[in-house]
Amino acid sequence: MEISLNPSGIKNWDGSILILGLYEGKIEEQLNKYEHPHQETLVKELQKINFKAKTGEVTKFQLLGQTPAQVILVGLGEPKALLLDDLRKAASIGARASFGSSGKLGIMLPWNQFDSETTALAVGEALRLSLFKDLRFRNNPDPILRPEALELLGVRIESKKVLERVTPICAGVELARELVGSPPNSLTPKALAEQAVQIANEYGLESIILGAEECKERGMGAYLAVAQGSDMAPQFIHLIYRPDGPVKRRLAMVGKGLTFDSGGYNLKVGAAQIEMMKFDMGGSAAVIGAARALAELRPKDIEVHFIVAACENMINGSAVHPGDIVQASNGKTIEINNTDAEGRLTLADALIYACELEPDAIVDLATLTGACVIALGDEIAGLWTDDDELAMELIEAADSTGEGLWRMPLRSSYKEGLKSMLADIKNTGPRAGGSITAGLFLKEFVKESIPWAHIDIAGTVWTDKDRGINPAGATGYGVRTLVNWACKPLGESNQALNKKK
Ligand code: BES
Ligand code: MN
Ligand code: ZN
Repeated sequence: MEISLNPSGIKNWDGSILILGLYEGKIEEQLNKYEHPHQETLVKELQKINFKAKTGEVTKFQLLGQTPAQVILVGLGEPKALLLDDLRKAASIGARASFGSSGKLGIMLPWNQFDSETTALAVGEALRLSLFKDLRFRNNPDPILRPEALELLGVRIESKKVLERVTPICAGVELARELVGSPPNSLTPKALAEQAVQIANEYGLESIILGAEECKERGMGAYLAVAQGSDMAPQFIHLIYRPDGPVKRRLAMVGKGLTFDSGGYNLKVGAAQIEMMKFDMGGSAAVIGAARALAELRPKDIEVHFIVAACENMINGSAVHPGDIVQASNGKTIEINNTDAEGRLTLADALIYACELEPDAIVDLATLTGACVIALGDEIAGLWTDDDELAMELIEAADSTGEGLWRMPLRSSYKEGLKSMLADIKNTGPRAGGSITAGLFLKEFVKESIPWAHIDIAGTVWTDKDRGINPAGATGYGVRTLVNWACKPLGESNQALNKKK
């Protein structure tokens, strides 16, 4: 989708759908300032419907035969209370109200309330991501018309560089959404690896794929145990981004890549929503989406490794028995007391592999626990780490994108719950504190000297209804946080981005 800047307001604008953001109170005055061509008509109509411009309020006017033919007014509430994320939300509310019309969509918002470049980037992303629709599995095109081009009206910023970031970042998010939205018979471990290699070839990343044999040679017994009950071969994916100049920081991003999680012999039954478990590769989608975005953005100073131990958790005659003991590639033995706690088994070997690269920091993203959904719902992911600096970096990176992230405790006394009678550790603790013991399990496979963080995206990977910049379905959660984290200039804080001027 084409997206551009138009510094010259709306007076002589030639597009067909106009979104105007308005604060509460003095609406007539604001419309005056915007110099809208049909201002009088709008004011009269607004009085009739008692439009107050409260946060999230929206109304739409058709002006047949005029330019623009459609005006969408979105309320921004009180200026004092406005957050950057409210502008994203206003953009998505406006974008959704535009469905049914085609042509060029323009948006006019208070660009100067926050840093204008940051605002332009946020709103550009919000518009494009709100308009996303996955039509890959339909024969007939979407019958609902959508805008074809986007214009940010009245933004006065020096460089176009900001907008050049919107396309790669959104393409990364959309790739993640498509991967997550793909049914498990289409997105198999093999297909995921092929997509990763294709991205690597297209955008200039290095790629390494390990098959089952190579993983066996490396002793990845935890990962392979999960894969052994499936007819689909496991695929261990490793992509590498190298910058043009010298490398000052090396990062690893690890994603859980279960293309389907049936639960194994601890089969998902009842309310467990087994049919949703195609989204259990959401962590890998975020990581591959971030790889696609970073490969195009080409940030300097950093090298990034993208790692996914992809497989399926299924049932057949060779599947893991509940009670099996397996050995991870660092030698630790694991009693699998629940085959449905499979993500942490695959991540164990993926994290060991990541540590062998000796990066400066590791972040893993995983749809790891239902308990995290219960704790934080579907708008906030959980963050576990012992490293305060890494926690701060990630929370700042997430906050400035509007992705919800909340730090949770990695309380070491809960490790008690993972004690096995026979093996070094068991894979499942008690129900209470289930997301914490999951994090503590992962920690066992990370070198203590390497800063590491775990992000549980079980809730945020999917939304059942349209929410903010996310249409119902896969959200692509994590891509923007990862990209932002990696692109942060070394030693600089992102915090200023969310502060008012
Ligand atoms: N993929 C699931 C976690 C999940 C559940 C994600 C619901 C999204 C929604 C994971 O593999 C799993 O099954 N976890 C178990 C762990 C339990 C057996 C300790 C869970 O959360 O029930
Ligand atoms: Mn599971
Ligand atoms: Zn799972």
